[in-house]
Amino acid sequence: MKDSGVDGRIIELFRSGDGVVSGAALSRLLGVSRTAVWKHVKGLRASGYLIEAVPSKGYRLLSSPKVLTQLDLSAGLATTRIGTSIICLKETESTNQVAFRMAEEGAAEGTVVIADAQSAGKGRLGRIWLSPPGVNLYCSVVLRPAIAPMAACQLTFLSVVAVARTIESCTALTPQIKWPNDILINGKKVAGLLNEMNAETEKVNFVVLGIGVNLNLDMSSISESLLRHPATSLLEQGGAEVDRLAFTRALLVELDRLYDVFLREGEGPVRAEWLERSAIKGRNVKVSQGEREFVGMVQGVDSFGALLVQLSGGKVETVLSGDVALI
Ligand code: BTN
Repeated sequence: MKDSGVDGRIIELFRSGDGVVSGAALSRLLGVSRTAVWKHVKGLRASGYLIEAVPSKGYRLLSSPKVLTQLDLSAGLATTRIGTSIICLKETESTNQVAFRMAEEGAAEGTVVIADAQSAGKGRLGRIWLSPPGVNLYCSVVLRPAIAPMAACQLTFLSVVAVARTIESCTALTPQIKWPNDILINGKKVAGLLNEMNAETEKVNFVVLGIGVNLNLDMSSISESLLRHPATSLLEQGGAEVDRLAFTRALLVELDRLYDVFLREGEGPVRAEWLERSAIKGRNVKVSQGEREFVGMVQGVDSFGALLVQLSGGKVETVLSGDVALI
């Protein structure tokens, strides 16, 4: 559990109670005076928290700010590594860029950078990731695993599976995984992952897991010419708004659980779940790698995250990068 100061603990107490929390209880549980409680409540209100004063009873949290805040995300967050430090920005070029810079300057493992909007969201292969404000999740996480650079792509399994699990726990939808790092619902892309690494010849210094999920994006507001592949949002697929805060907290918990498994047991269990959820195992695909294109049947992925595609003559190609489309 993170220590997010008195403000964070007040939010946590509001959440854990079933409504009104008395000023006396807050003062006792936080170990501060009633005047200090009042000052913190005033500060929280100024930051956009709607807190009602219920006469002779106490305080009740009516709503949080519309944007994701560090306080809301970290209050009572049940993680051990992910979210040790959470930075929420209103707008930035790219959360991956910010997290990468912070990691270069020594940011701790588990640091999370979230933005309400990105002006230059980075997608795979130099593409742009559409990042309008107020609706989606744009998040980057710094990890510092003691692994060789070759093994870093295994971490893609981790973020993909974490997002898939979170979609399942927060909605009634069934996500599918498409190699290497797309998450689809009914054949349309709902989330994309972009991992970036800083390494020396023998060891990884850090990896930034970049996670973009279309949560409440109104697809009719997006011109199709901006989309390279058919895209969708959880709102479009499920017909209901997704609670951004609940989704993000659940995602951080799943990332934490899976990273723990990864560190203790290696990539095997996470890769196994990736394969089970994969939309392409056993399917015929067309692989495009720049000028080169070929078709084959997907056999699986190797322990480094490469796709294994069997050509018609029986030869198995190991695909490390490129675009893969089902045929
Ligand atoms: C893809 O092309 O599928 C990968 C998209 C990754 C987008 C996310 S949004 C948060 C993070 N910051 C970025 O600039 N990109 C990633």
